[in-house]
Amino acid sequence: MKISLISKLPLFLAAGVLSFACQPKKESAPEAPMTPAPAKATDIHSNADPQEARVKHLHWKAAVDFEQQVIRATATWEIEAAADADLITFDTKGLTIEKVQTDNDTTAEYRLSEPDAILGQALAVLIQPTTKTVTIHYRTNPGAEALQWLSPQQTAGKKHPFLFTQSQAILARSWVPCQDSPGIRFTYDAEVTVPPALLALMSASNPETRNKTGVYTFEMKQPIPSYLLALAVGDVSFKSISPRSGIYAEPSVVGKAAWEFADLEKMIAGAEELYGPYQWERYDVLVLPPSFPFGGMENPRLTFATPTILSGDRSLTSLIAHELAHSWSGNLVTNATWNDFWLNEGFTVYFETRIMEKLYGRDYAEMLASLNLQDLKSEIQSLSDDGHPADTKLKLNLASRNPDDGVTAIAYNKGYFFLRTIEEMNGREKFDRFVKDYFTQNAFKVMTTEAFIPFIRDYYQKQYNITLNDTLFEEWIYGEGLPNSCSQPKSIRFDAVDAAMTKWKEGQKIEALTKPWTTHEWLHFINHLPDSLTPSQLKDVDALGHFTASGNAEILAAWGVIAIHNQYTPAYAKIEDFLIHTGRRKFLMPIYTEFIKTAEGKAQAQAIYAKARPNYHFVAVNSLDKLLGPP
Ligand code: BES
Ligand code: ZN
Repeated sequence: MKISLISKLPLFLAAGVLSFACQPKKESAPEAPMTPAPAKATDIHSNADPQEARVKHLHWKAAVDFEQQVIRATATWEIEAAADADLITFDTKGLTIEKVQTDNDTTAEYRLSEPDAILGQALAVLIQPTTKTVTIHYRTNPGAEALQWLSPQQTAGKKHPFLFTQSQAILARSWVPCQDSPGIRFTYDAEVTVPPALLALMSASNPETRNKTGVYTFEMKQPIPSYLLALAVGDVSFKSISPRSGIYAEPSVVGKAAWEFADLEKMIAGAEELYGPYQWERYDVLVLPPSFPFGGMENPRLTFATPTILSGDRSLTSLIAHELAHSWSGNLVTNATWNDFWLNEGFTVYFETRIMEKLYGRDYAEMLASLNLQDLKSEIQSLSDDGHPADTKLKLNLASRNPDDGVTAIAYNKGYFFLRTIEEMNGREKFDRFVKDYFTQNAFKVMTTEAFIPFIRDYYQKQYNITLNDTLFEEWIYGEGLPNSCSQPKSIRFDAVDAAMTKWKEGQKIEALTKPWTTHEWLHFINHLPDSLTPSQLKDVDALGHFTASGNAEILAAWGVIAIHNQYTPAYAKIEDFLIHTGRRKFLMPIYTEFIKTAEGKAQAQAIYAKARPNYHFVAVNSLDKLLGPP
């Protein structure tokens, strides 16, 4: 054993660490557009070498300790190794590794590489080609980046603590040693022990009620990538919506949430009618406390969602359609690397919009699409202004960067408009058949951008005798900005808002015109307010739309930016309260960004941030520290 270790890892004993293992893997030369798909995509954000040895199944046994804010666990991985394999490599970040075993109780040799700020540490374990299992005994660190430990005060009920994970993009490695690459799938089962007053849930088969022992078991039978590993522990109850769907949330929230998402079953059925059967058996939604850093996260079988979509009027449910759509785009057909992120999100926004159109009609969906286009245009502008025009390409290059840098409106909205443009070129019927077959033929597989291009071209050629030309892919995927071929949404309801806006600018009273407006019309209105507003105009629009008093987080966040830009101080107390109690990064970033444009605003922002920071998840803190400087 030692001999093979030394010959395999000459640097290893000398340096005491696997000093090579965390060097970014050599990247293949940048793909020339239109080259055939590579046999295998290299994931620059993982240390795993799945060609040598890869994981197939995880048995996870864990105990959640709220006092110490650590998880103590053993991860037993069933693996498959190549005929000449002598190492298996996992990703870890901040984990304390206690012991590693292979197969039946032998102590295995392993080493951790030096930490890399983004990638963490490689854990290399010496194996035989015949090794079947690797067991890692470990504990997490109180600062584990995926985990947020909430005090009772940070929950709705104020009585019990709460824990949730956020693994996407590369944070799973901070709570489970894993091959943390979207291209590597595995099944899992788990046994998790939590304080008996709390319920544990995972991205797997889930309990509906608490049990006295505090021990819960889980099973995920379909293979998933590591970024879809998820755990939540808290005082959570369940309300059924349909035989295959329901809502989990804190007891005081679950009723409101079940009302808000009453159409959940219709969404699932609508999605299936569009693009084929739902493959994950149940679809439940867990509404988290407000510090959840995203709107939603498509953890399989159990979407995690922010409570900021509980607007009380069902106007923000497209987010649920989005996370549900990921059950096909992303969870079934998965982006091979984070450079291909648009394949996950662009397809999902497209699918989401189609679900909303099916349930609520074309007018509704066209409002969503118009808002998307507005966001896309301003994202392209700001990425270009900030010196990142290359990040406006669908195909990203995130080498030496955090994949989080790729989470912009480009993947989502440019991805959406690319697909919509193809749809409109040759008709919806053809496009729908393509999308359905794309999901079916690639289910439980990975997709690179370079494999997607020949897939869709061959499909259109063979099925319809239609040649999709090179320029389409060149300009949308490898080109910057918004191509001229972009399809244009047409929203009659927004046309009416535009007409009212013109009247308002002329000083006319428009209150009567705004009577039928819903959330999206108000958002469109706010987005089109003049850049500078006088104090009396600010007062007037606030009286018209009740923005400062709004219980709708989307409206409040959009209005907050306008209010700060124009120093409309009557809104400041509400904005501060919102920033302290909401952890959703999408809302935080624009508001803080607007604040810091003036010296006075910057001081205000820093004072608020000092109070709010303890309430935010690492994902939000990481972005905000860069913006505002750590406290
Ligand atoms: N998968 C994403 C969230 C994500 C992306 C987390 C990348 C970490 C890295 C999720 O599906 C998502 O897109 N959420 C959006 C909502 C959506 C309606 C655009 C969000 O959180 O705002
Ligand atoms: Zn998404």
